[in-house]
Order: sequence, then structure tokens, then C-alpha cells
Amino acid sequence: MKQIFWVPLVIAAISQAAQADILAKADLAYGEYLSGECVTCHRADGGDEGIPQIIGLDAEGFAAIMLAYKAKDLDNPVMQIVAGRLDEEQIASLAVYFESLE
Ligand code: HEC
Repeated sequence: MKQIFWVPLVIAAISQAAQADILAKADLAYGEYLSGECVTCHRADGGDEGIPQIIGLDAEGFAAIMLAYKAKDLDNPVMQIVAGRLDEEQIASLAVYFESLE
């Protein structure tokens, strides 16, 4: 029975390692290219009209949020569809691109 206690910790450790790993696939220019779709809703100038701004988030946190939408662990249906279409390389590239914006 004691082993069960460790399962969530192991899963957390694995998913953290996986996030650090996907950033290794990032390509800033590819992220800029892909961002065109995002900035129709998330304004690139940092304005916020009911939709959160996503520039300046740290890349790891950004990737974690996108993976959570993709896995449907976060609830927003629009973002689930958007993230669901992206692979890990694309998510990583978007993460480093948006982190690079001020
Ligand atoms: C059709 C509009 C729309 C598009 C297109 C869109 N988003 Fe979103 N996004 C939203 C909305 C609305 C939320 C807020 C969801 C909520 O509050 O639950 C959100 C939330 C987010 C968040 C979480 C922000 C936070 O601080 O919690 C991230 C990160 C994000 N989007 C990234 C992206 C990326 C990257 C793209 C392009 C691949 C994208 N979005 C395209 C509407 C959109």
C-alpha cells in the first residue's frame, strides 16, 4: 500500500522532465511563423480585452499550459482545439517565441 503514495510524485517528476525536454526542440523563427494564428485573439501589443496576454510568460510555464490544454487538463474549449492541433515542437517554438517578446 505504501507504494501508491509515491505514484503522483513519480508522475510529476516525469512530466517536469518531459517539459524541459520539449524546449530542446524549440525554433524561434518557427514560433514566430506559428504565432500568426494566436495573435488574432491574444494581442501581440500586450493589450488585454478579456483574453489574457501571453507575451513574456516564461517558456517552461507557457509550454506546460499548452500541454495541459492539449491533454484537456485545462478547460477552455477554444484553447483545447488550438493546442490539440500543435505538436511538441510547435508548442516549444511558440513558447520561446512568446517568451522573447516584451
Ligand atoms: C479564438 C481565440 C484564441 C486563439 C486563436 C488562441 N487563443 Fe489562447 N486563449 C484564448 C482564451 C479565450 C484564453 C483564456 C482561457 C481561459 O481563461 O480559460 C486563452 C488562453 C491561453 C493561454 C493561457 C494564458 C494564461 O495566462 O492563463 C495561453 C498560454 C494561450 N492561450 C496560448 C495560445 C497560443 C500559443 C495560441 C496560438 C497557437 C493561442 N493561444 C490561440 C483564446 C485564443
